[in-house]
Amino acid sequence: MKPTSASSYDRRRWLGTAGSWAAAAALPIPQIFTSSGIGGANDRPGIGFIGMGGRADTHIDICLKFKEQGRCDIVAVCDVYRPRVEAAAARTGAKIYRDYRELLADDSVDLVCIATPDRHHAPQALAAVRAGKDVYVEKPLTHWSQMDLAAELCDEAERLRRIVQVGTQYVADEAYAKAHALIEQGIVGKIVHVQLGYFRRGDWGERMPIPDPNAKAGPDLDWEQFLGDAPKVPFDVSRFFQWRLYWDYAGGPATDLLVHAFTPVFCLLELGYPERVLGGGGTFQYPREVPDQCNIIADYPGGPSVVMSNSLSNFTGIQTILRGTDGAIVLGDLDHPGQGIRIVPVAKESQEVVIPWSGFGNTEKLWENFLDCVQTRQRPFSPVDIGVRVQAPLNMGILSHREGKVARFDPAARKILLQ
Ligand SMILES: NC(=O)c1ccc[n+]([C@@H]2O[C@H](COP(=O)([O-])OP(=O)(O)OC[C@H]3O[C@@H](n4cnc5c(N)ncnc54)[C@H](O)[C@@H]3O)[C@@H](O)[C@H]2O)c1
Repeated sequence: MKPTSASSYDRRRWLGTAGSWAAAAALPIPQIFTSSGIGGANDRPGIGFIGMGGRADTHIDICLKFKEQGRCDIVAVCDVYRPRVEAAAARTGAKIYRDYRELLADDSVDLVCIATPDRHHAPQALAAVRAGKDVYVEKPLTHWSQMDLAAELCDEAERLRRIVQVGTQYVADEAYAKAHALIEQGIVGKIVHVQLGYFRRGDWGERMPIPDPNAKAGPDLDWEQFLGDAPKVPFDVSRFFQWRLYWDYAGGPATDLLVHAFTPVFCLLELGYPERVLGGGGTFQYPREVPDQCNIIADYPGGPSVVMSNSLSNFTGIQTILRGTDGAIVLGDLDHPGQGIRIVPVAKESQEVVIPWSGFGNTEKLWENFLDCVQTRQRPFSPVDIGVRVQAPLNMGILSHREGKVARFDPAARKILLQ
């Protein structure tokens, strides 16, 4: 499928008319963002997968289901590690590639799913949009050192009219659209403070298994491609299989976990870029390079001040709460989201409103939305321009923590400055 012709991403804000708490609760699902449709999309697009590790298993499960329904084909799989790509090909019947650039040159691939280590997301997504593919790219949009690449990807995706869905599945819930409309109407006044977090006991997510301790760089394992633009270091079996523990390939809890709790808040508030970010935390419990405790404070111009918090030592968490001058929006936490979004007014005579979740944290829902948008050319739930702005405070928090400085943002140049 060739790149389709231009569609204008017409960003129109939906404004409801409900004037009371009760009426607001019954609002229909709004279409917050719209775009003019363009035709020509293949109604059974061919999917190419890049990176066939743990996360790709979930994507393959979902896409096999959609394939059964006649909604897509799985045409190609790619990995630098032969055992994984062969296992994926055996499951799907897809063609094998060992180099993602060759997969991108394959005309039967209409869209790609990128689930490689963080550092490859932006370079591979950029190459994919330039090859005319639509892209589902796993979170985080980029490695913490790649703010420039994030901005370039955003510009290129818009210029080439490619659909890019960033894999933050917690935004794939229609409840947010209803809450967004109510926030726009001022239901809790001006939102001035936000708290959110992600808490776990154990570093099991990062300390990934080493399936073959004797694995070596060579024909079955392309170490050079694994490194990409990361510093050239000799082969190391832990770096290859447990890349989340190392700064060269990952950013710790900020970009691995907090991104999930922050993205829905970001979409609800339509934030821009923060003016000032402070990153704290440290590596206090587990033997690893990246932190196991992470706190970020991001101040947006005129508010809100967003406090993001994480510990991998204890799962006693904090709820996500958006505090306004006339009330609060309570999202719960990612493991305990409750029945829905609670809108808690300050005024005594006002009732609390609960907007039920429709599919909290459901990756299949994010895929469904992606496949729909590939057809309709509409704006997906988690588009790249949001991804780049979500990435900013996370990257800034990491840089602030690493350098012991305050991170500021130059919005015109989309550059991070450390002072
Ligand atoms: N949305 C979510 O909830 C969620 C959950 C888990 C993982 N993820 C994201 O998915 C990504 C992958 O995580 P994972 O746990 O599957 O890691 P993983 O190590 O299990 O899988 C990554 C795969 O990419 C391959 N690879 C490395 N460099 C490559 C290259 N240049 N070209 C092609 N293949 C390459 C590796 O060999 C490996 O098989 C991460 O960025 C992670 O943040 C998201």
